[in-house]
Amino acid sequence: MFFQKKGETLAIDTSRLPKHIAIIMDGNGRWAAKRSLPRKAGHRAGAEALERVVSEANKMGIQHVTVYAFSTENWKRSDEEVSAIMDLLRHYLKNSFQRFLKDNVKMQVIGDVTGLDQDIQEQIKVIEEKSKGKDGMTVHIALNYGGRDELRRGIEKIAEEVASGSLSPKDITEEIIESYLDTAGIPDPELLIRTSGEERISNFLLWQIAYSEFYFTDVLWPDFGKKDLEKAIYYYQNRERRFGGR
Ligand code: FPP
Repeated sequence: MFFQKKGETLAIDTSRLPKHIAIIMDGNGRWAAKRSLPRKAGHRAGAEALERVVSEANKMGIQHVTVYAFSTENWKRSDEEVSAIMDLLRHYLKNSFQRFLKDNVKMQVIGDVTGLDQDIQEQIKVIEEKSKGKDGMTVHIALNYGGRDELRRGIEKIAEEVASGSLSPKDITEEIIESYLDTAGIPDPELLIRTSGEERISNFLLWQIAYSEFYFTDVLWPDFGKKDLEKAIYYYQNRERRFGGR
């Protein structure tokens, strides 16, 4: 946990911003329960927080933000909650993303999109296509995503290459593995944020977070805003990153 002294202003060094921030957006349900609202109201407020944070990160000059919107495990939630999140996603793709595109923000989905409804898959394709001409920040939305599932899918493709004779087992380097992940070509996140006081990774970006700094905060995701993002970046900038060296 990070504590800010009263009245202290956080001096962020804009020349040392993380290139990539990963976020586990947790606490929507508790935010709603505190207000005696249905869980879907918490997710709606969470979607608004996402829009806020993407806009701030883009203004700050962050290049990549990856958010955990729906995990491979989230299908275990009630049908009502799953369909509320999927409807929110439909709405998000139609509205928020059109606004992002205007601000030059690109969108990419990571995860097994084939497990999503056909209409959502089509909307994702349209937005990803429209993103191609933009040169601003990229927001990567993890949907039907699990770190182990991502590795399993990548390993399956590598095994196919080996079986067909186009790849030799000895040539399977870390770079080759990386190139078969959903995040191929994206720098690893230097900073991972999880809201709502939980301190777990929950199967998010298992390969990519090997050297990430972790920032955990009690703030519930729907309450997360500019100040909280700045606090997390300040914390990251004041950590010493050694990558196993001395
Ligand atoms: C975690 O809160 C949140 C989720 C599982 C869903 C994340 C979804 C959003 C932030 C909505 C916006 C995203 C899109 C684009 C659909 P929780 O429900 O686990 O909260 P709790 O732990 O307090 O119950």
